[in-house]
Amino acid sequence: MKDILTLGIESSCDETSVAVVKNGRIILSNIIDTQIPIHEKYGGVVPEIASRNHIEAISRVTKKALEEAKVTFEDIDVITPTYGPGLVGALLVGLSYGKALSYALNKPLVGVNHIEGHIAANYITYNELKPPFICLLVSGGNTQLVYVKDYTEFEILGKTRDDAIGEAFDKVARVVGLGYPGGPKVDKLAKEGQANIELPKTHFENLDFSFSGIKTAVINLHHKNPDVNKADLCLSFEKTVTEILVENTIKAIKQTGIKTLVLGGGVSANSYIRNEFLKLEKEGIKVYTPDIKLCTDNAAMIASAGYYNYINGKTNNLELNAIPNLKI
Ligand code: KG4
Repeated sequence: MKDILTLGIESSCDETSVAVVKNGRIILSNIIDTQIPIHEKYGGVVPEIASRNHIEAISRVTKKALEEAKVTFEDIDVITPTYGPGLVGALLVGLSYGKALSYALNKPLVGVNHIEGHIAANYITYNELKPPFICLLVSGGNTQLVYVKDYTEFEILGKTRDDAIGEAFDKVARVVGLGYPGGPKVDKLAKEGQANIELPKTHFENLDFSFSGIKTAVINLHHKNPDVNKADLCLSFEKTVTEILVENTIKAIKQTGIKTLVLGGGVSANSYIRNEFLKLEKEGIKVYTPDIKLCTDNAAMIASAGYYNYINGKTNNLELNAIPNLKI
């Protein structure tokens, strides 16, 4: 069978990324132009600034992705931009660029759901991985337990009712003065701490999550006692949210009988969370954690998800629009 090259384009938040991926699994290039230094001074992503920087970067990043993959536009089979969820102005840059390429080159267009991209990051990391499996998706915008029945067939088993877990990490980091983006900084500082602070956990009958209570508890604790040890607070926060994630994931595994678990999303880069989930292997659960470089936003995971949409006949026309609150 002929190889299929997908050109992934990602601009949903603060990373402009373009990648060339072969047959959904092999990265030929994955260029990531991050805007973190630009947004750092504002303590978070400023949407208008993100859009403008995507416009400035997109052609340059695409050129680099083709060069590194040693291919030309002619070699690309399918154009696969992210079309949601994300910041609408940011999404529109990558999507419009992808639509223009599709039209000018007369190549098929496949819009990719960013969340499906986070799941697909694991197909690149693990060549043998195939659905069905349970995916715990933990990112800056989402926290969900997804039953991945097939490459393009998903069922949401549980989701956050308020904040995404990444938002909670970022908020905790801001409160204790670690800056943006908070997740990696909390991860690092927690390594020096003790898990000696009791924090609240919210439970539901079903597999939903809630992180606003614990986030508020950390804020209140720090405001009442600014001398509280920051490293202890970070580790206690990580331990409590991980317990919540593990409890619901085990319930999902019992409910479905599926014993393959995949992590995905930016927060799956967290070393404490990865270690705790890997311990489930002792209970007969096969656990996959994506390559650290593919946890946060990148176009290779988008190109991989786009490949599976394409081979399953899911193409789009040029009327495709950005959907900021797109769900799976
Ligand atoms: O998946 P992602 O790049 O964006 C979305 O698609 O939403 O996730 C970004 C989130 C941020 O909240 C960031 O703080 C968090 O992932 N993050 C981490 C770590 N690395 C990134 N959170 C905890 N520990 C980390 N090591």
